[in-house]
Amino acid sequence: MFDSPATLAQQESNQFLQDVWQGLSSKQKYLESKYFYDENGDVIFQKIMDCSDYYLTRCEMDILKNKTAELAFPITAPGTPFDLIELGAGDASKTYFLLKHLLKSNADFVYKPIDISGHILDVLEDNLSQQLPNLKVAPCEGDYFQALDRICQTSNRRKIVLFLGSNIGNMQLDESESFCQQMAHHLNPGDFAIVGFDLKKNPKTILKAYDDDEGVTSEFNLNLLHRINRDLDGNFDLKQFEHYQNYDPLTGACRSFLVSLTEQTVTIAGRDFYFAKDEAIYMEVSQKYSPEDIDELAERSGFKTVSHCYDHKKWYMDAIWKVI
Ligand SMILES: C[S@@+](CC[C@H](N)C(=O)[O-])C[C@H]1O[C@@H](n2cnc3c(N)ncnc32)[C@H](O)[C@@H]1O
Repeated sequence: MFDSPATLAQQESNQFLQDVWQGLSSKQKYLESKYFYDENGDVIFQKIMDCSDYYLTRCEMDILKNKTAELAFPITAPGTPFDLIELGAGDASKTYFLLKHLLKSNADFVYKPIDISGHILDVLEDNLSQQLPNLKVAPCEGDYFQALDRICQTSNRRKIVLFLGSNIGNMQLDESESFCQQMAHHLNPGDFAIVGFDLKKNPKTILKAYDDDEGVTSEFNLNLLHRINRDLDGNFDLKQFEHYQNYDPLTGACRSFLVSLTEQTVTIAGRDFYFAKDEAIYMEVSQKYSPEDIDELAERSGFKTVSHCYDHKKWYMDAIWKVI
């Protein structure tokens, strides 16, 4: 028996409310960054990708455009059909280059993009149906592993998982390890994962990427307060919160916060939350890695490193891992 779409939407909304209440009643207030991506958040994130300071997209685009054969080789070498599953696919604007290459090589595969935002999956499907009309696409809306479970239950072809865009950076280090272990657990020995990591580099370059002059990252963070107002009957005054970003070169953690500019009480679905002046809500981490950190993560999670694909500046790496 399947839940009706109305029931699922209700469950998601209840979960959103529970998560927001829990985050804002913690000693260190936080909000979960997966909730950034409503329709408006998707549009703002596409603006971030175009920002001159946000180098990550251009670096990974460089890899996807110029190292396509290197990325594709381990995927196509066995010569058998496969599912190409992308976790948090977004608009797939970079993946497009790999998909085009795989189609040209006559690889037998279905592209299965997973994303928590149904809206961005519609954008992806529209774009790809025009750009690559012969591509078989089966989008899957949902949280990473809920959606991956559904895919694994319905197909026993070999699997290649893409996890690009430094999405892994949006996890604490211990979380990323258990995430990669879970990813390996869903795959079979010989399957591959390609994971995008932003590398440690000049701290000022990193900080600027998340503290852009155009204020787009600020808009992206504040949009989550707007979403809470709209979807959870909240009354955040967006003018009373300010985006603050910091980067710690010792740990590689780049963190974003929203700081309350005044003492205030915010009500969300009938529950009050007190904010002291200058109190910060922790919004998101964007973790930076060294190549050694990445190899160790692979080893600890049940993968063997096959190769490192860098952009020409060596600011970013797509690591190719094989399940052992
Ligand atoms: C930083 S964007 C990157 C998009 C894409 N990977 C790229 O490289 O351009 C993160 C994407 O992951 C999705 N996402 C975030 N958390 C998710 C989750 N828990 N489950 C599924 N998708 C998620 C968002 O909706 C968004 O489209």
